[in-house]
Amino acid sequence: MSRSEELELIRFENAAAVADHLAERLWQQRLETPQQPLGLATGRTMEPVYAALVKRWHRAPEAERRSVRRSWLSFNLDEYVGLAPGDGRSFAAFMQERLAGPLGLKSSQVRLPDGLAADPAAAAASYRASVAAAGGIGLQVLGLGLNGHVGFNEPPCAADAPCRCVALSATTREQNSGAFGGDLAAVPARAISLGLAEILAARAIVLVVTGGAKAAVLRRLLQDPPSALLPASWLRRHPAVTLLADQAALSLA
Ligand code: GLP
Repeated sequence: MSRSEELELIRFENAAAVADHLAERLWQQRLETPQQPLGLATGRTMEPVYAALVKRWHRAPEAERRSVRRSWLSFNLDEYVGLAPGDGRSFAAFMQERLAGPLGLKSSQVRLPDGLAADPAAAAASYRASVAAAGGIGLQVLGLGLNGHVGFNEPPCAADAPCRCVALSATTREQNSGAFGGDLAAVPARAISLGLAEILAARAIVLVVTGGAKAAVLRRLLQDPPSALLPASWLRRHPAVTLLADQAALSLA
């Protein structure tokens, strides 16, 4: 383990090792601070994390499983505008398939913004209010976009940007087009995303960066001062951020 100026960095051999470490931390968070909701992310980085968490679940004693299932509450970062929860390309479907289904959690326990709302701005405001009503996020998990976004906070993005309806950049739509059969035109143009305001209000944050494709943006994150041009860089202002990265992602750092 080594420390950069403000971000605590924990270095792992590969993405599987990152996933095992984070799954254990998530499990302990649910056991130790069940009153604090988790903040969760989607994306390819998170696939092995949820797989490891499901394995952790199966290894746990029945009493722990019961208590985790009873008290579970999580808020996802974001959802595409225009996709129904039953649409296999939605983040709601991602969470149902990889986490809520295997753990037997209700949809009221694994919350996401309403991608089908007639008024996405109002849906964003109401999502922000439900996070606040739950006392804010306890542990927030984040992936990193190729352009430095967290959630769907695209650059440029201020540190106090709230939960809102956002326009997705060309880079992000390209990055996520795999889930849409590679058809860029099918990737929604907008999403509802928690803002840096809610993310930075979390009590603790874990940023997960794996794979060689993220090496260039991770180098920028470790070297550049905080700026709206790299939304993830605002995390440096948070007192309890842990960066989990594998060798491939750190290859240029
Ligand atoms: C996506 C999501 C983020 C995710 C990030 C990284 O667009 N909105 O929540 O963490 O970009 O995605 P991936 O893990 O697929 O690289």
